[in-house]
Amino acid sequence: MVLGVGGGIAAYKVCELLRRLTESGHHVRVVPTEAALRFVGEPTWAALSGQPVETGVWETVHEVPHVRIGQSADLVFVAPATADLMAKAAAGIADDLLTNTLLTARCPVVFAPAMHTEMWEHPATQANVATLRSRGAIVLDPAVGRLTGVDTGRGRLPEPSELFEAARLALRRGVTEPDLVGRRVVVSAGGTREAIDPVRFLGNHSSGRQGYALARTAAARGADVTLVAANVSLPDPAGVRLVRVSSALELSEAMTVERVGADAVVMSAAVADFRPATSVVSKIKKSGDAPAPIELAENPDILAGLVRSRSEQGMAQTIVGFAAETDDVLANGRAKLARKGCDLLVVNQVGGGRAFGTDDNQATVLAADGAVVDIPTGPKEDLADRVWDLVVERLP
Ligand code: CTP
Repeated sequence: MVLGVGGGIAAYKVCELLRRLTESGHHVRVVPTEAALRFVGEPTWAALSGQPVETGVWETVHEVPHVRIGQSADLVFVAPATADLMAKAAAGIADDLLTNTLLTARCPVVFAPAMHTEMWEHPATQANVATLRSRGAIVLDPAVGRLTGVDTGRGRLPEPSELFEAARLALRRGVTEPDLVGRRVVVSAGGTREAIDPVRFLGNHSSGRQGYALARTAAARGADVTLVAANVSLPDPAGVRLVRVSSALELSEAMTVERVGADAVVMSAAVADFRPATSVVSKIKKSGDAPAPIELAENPDILAGLVRSRSEQGMAQTIVGFAAETDDVLANGRAKLARKGCDLLVVNQVGGGRAFGTDDNQATVLAADGAVVDIPTGPKEDLADRVWDLVVERLP
């Protein structure tokens, strides 16, 4: 693969990405811009990649590197992608080795932008990003956080471990066209916590891994992804907008806002059906008597509510639910699909160490149009990709 490095301070984080890529067996050719070398020098890239490093088209001309490097790549990953570099790529300018490589590559191309918020939000940058996306490139949204100086905002390069995941997913899909480009999807993940008092809650075992895999794989397929995460302690996926919530009522509110204008909504979060009826502001103390029972109130069924408001408001949106069942898995799944009214229900068997907190998952997907698709045990990303295949077939 080609690792294109733009002239941004975040180039220092890309050394760590390069290290991860080579350690996992990838053959990486680093192609920095001249400006990138002002941040991290040529010897660092050469030593970490074990490959020659050039920025211009006038070295080793007999090997025609300006054409060969792009043509022979399985993936071109550009990080940090600066505003200037994306403007050149969008305009087809080829004035150094990296911009030439971007014109000759026919493999998946991923840009991981990093810049100050103002530069990212500028209409010129946004227009260039839209152009690159319309041509099939994956442009990851930058993360929100601390920028170069003391300021914070959107524009931060995602962490190297998450850039590595994005590169791995892009390589995994190979030359397949990114089929969610131009689509907005909302995924809920994790498990809600219902406060008993300021220190205790009712919760569940959901780790959020399946929801995070859905968000990552959708981003790798070009979607604009919002991930609504309930109490998940996993790293923030690259290129995904994250909204954090805790209780079912907060999740419900976030989903109501975020689903507007989305092409697909996937409810993979484990939502508590009940919450303590009264919210206690002080910690409950032992009194020596038998503990008082906790009275419960019912939470809204968020998924059923999303389906209901879709038809009330005439929205075109594909809605997917998840069902974790311990017994009579398919019969319960069919009844749940009918009750919730969603387009797809991903049913998996839980208990006995299955699904929760593990890397693998298995499921049967039931569709409102009658289709039944078995997804064998495999990585949660494989299951996520199969779910997106089924969603793509049904998108409005
Ligand atoms: N769900 C929801 N709101 C709730 C409960 C569940 O949106 N209050 C969603 C989940 O995110 C999931 C689907 O509904 O996509 C099924 O969740 P599950 O807990 O299996 O459904 P329940 O209706 O709670 O059924 P059960 O009686 O089996 O608990």
